[in-house]
Amino acid sequence: MTSKRSSLHGQWSSRWAFILAATGSAVGLGNIWKFPYITGENGGGAFVIVYLVCIACIGIPLMMAEILIGRRGRRSPVNTMRTLAAEGHHHPAWQYLGWTGVLAGFLILSYYSVVAGWALAYVFRAAGGLFDNATGEQIGELFTALISDPERLLAWHTIFIVMTMIVVSRGVQSGLEKAVRFLMPGLFLLLAMLVGYAMSTGSFTEGMAFLFSPDFSKLSSASVLVAMGHAFFTLSLGMGAIMVYGSYLPEDTSIAQTSIIIAAADTLVALMAGMAIFPIVFAHGLEPGMGSGLIFQTLPIAFGHMPGGTFFGTLFFVLLVFAAWTSAISLIEPAVAWLVENRGMTRVMASAWAGLATWIVGLGTVFSFNLWAERKLFGMSFFDLLDFATANIILPLGGLFIALFATWTLSRRVTKDELKLGRTGYQLWYILTRYVAPLAVIVIFLNVTGLLELG
Ligand code: PFF
Repeated sequence: MTSKRSSLHGQWSSRWAFILAATGSAVGLGNIWKFPYITGENGGGAFVIVYLVCIACIGIPLMMAEILIGRRGRRSPVNTMRTLAAEGHHHPAWQYLGWTGVLAGFLILSYYSVVAGWALAYVFRAAGGLFDNATGEQIGELFTALISDPERLLAWHTIFIVMTMIVVSRGVQSGLEKAVRFLMPGLFLLLAMLVGYAMSTGSFTEGMAFLFSPDFSKLSSASVLVAMGHAFFTLSLGMGAIMVYGSYLPEDTSIAQTSIIIAAADTLVALMAGMAIFPIVFAHGLEPGMGSGLIFQTLPIAFGHMPGGTFFGTLFFVLLVFAAWTSAISLIEPAVAWLVENRGMTRVMASAWAGLATWIVGLGTVFSFNLWAERKLFGMSFFDLLDFATANIILPLGGLFIALFATWTLSRRVTKDELKLGRTGYQLWYILTRYVAPLAVIVIFLNVTGLLELG
């Protein structure tokens, strides 16, 4: 039997504060940087459909599961899992689920921060007028110059880690709410403007067709894994980030409604980014599958050619940095909350240690674009490997176990009590979380490893 308790780390001031913070966690580089480039690499439309189905059938139910577990436990994910398992007389090994989350957040932040560093660098490039009337080729050269310079990358990585840790050390509630309140509308407006520009490129229809008309023959099982992994990544699921935010959630808030709002806002931002980028790609004869530099090699072309481009370009990259910042905070929050609870550290000390460790691992990503560019493991660079392992393996596995814990381990009474849904709503959530999501993850894993074909 689990009972109600309150969080050691305070509570959101309202339901909207939670929605804003969780949306701040969800909307980030994943939507604007990663979604377009993996869509480009995986052939477009069919990939987008699989991604959308994963958001609806796995992402939303799982987000509800994470929030309800967090709110029930009211501690860091490690201690929440430990407490809920102990109270229900379940196996203590459930706490390791909290641990994988801490590890995933820390590993993701180590490379996330390097890419956020690119966005920081681009704020200054945009402000300095470097994109003015530049050709696609010149913009490409600017990007290569940045990533091939380890010192510059290191400097931006360091600045971003310090920025993140400063906010985390103050406690996530203060400041985050205000930051996201202006960030979301700003980002939305600028993306709408970029979509407007994309319409004027003459290749808008081609871009839309790439993004929305599916050709399932292009879809490999590896692409399906990437689409599913991205659904977890973009909604910040499978590692306890949403769970820890849920632990600060007031009692009377509807978990289903808030989850749908967050997932919808997140998806809208990703689709708008795609709608802005692909027409530019085709208008300039660029390659949709060019990889992780995609937005940095397309959007500057738009800014370089539109009236007021210096201003809007600068503003866009500032907002992108903010979006990355509000996500980064949630990536490291499970680790920091645990250090405070279990190691008796102050938030400042906990943030400093977590930041230092993340910074060190981030060096691997910094060097993977230059000094170690030729070093490959399983055919991937350090950065690609870390991204692949976290987004496509650790997060879906974490999500799988969270879904199992919520529906096979926790009693129905607890989940009903937290979700407060009508009969049909609850049944739908229960079936999706208990059967559909776990089976989907398992089948996609088996498919990609080729095990399903062996039989
Ligand atoms: N959802 C973030 C993005 O799309 O950029 C990344 C992220 C944040 C992933 C927090 C996981 C997480 F726990």
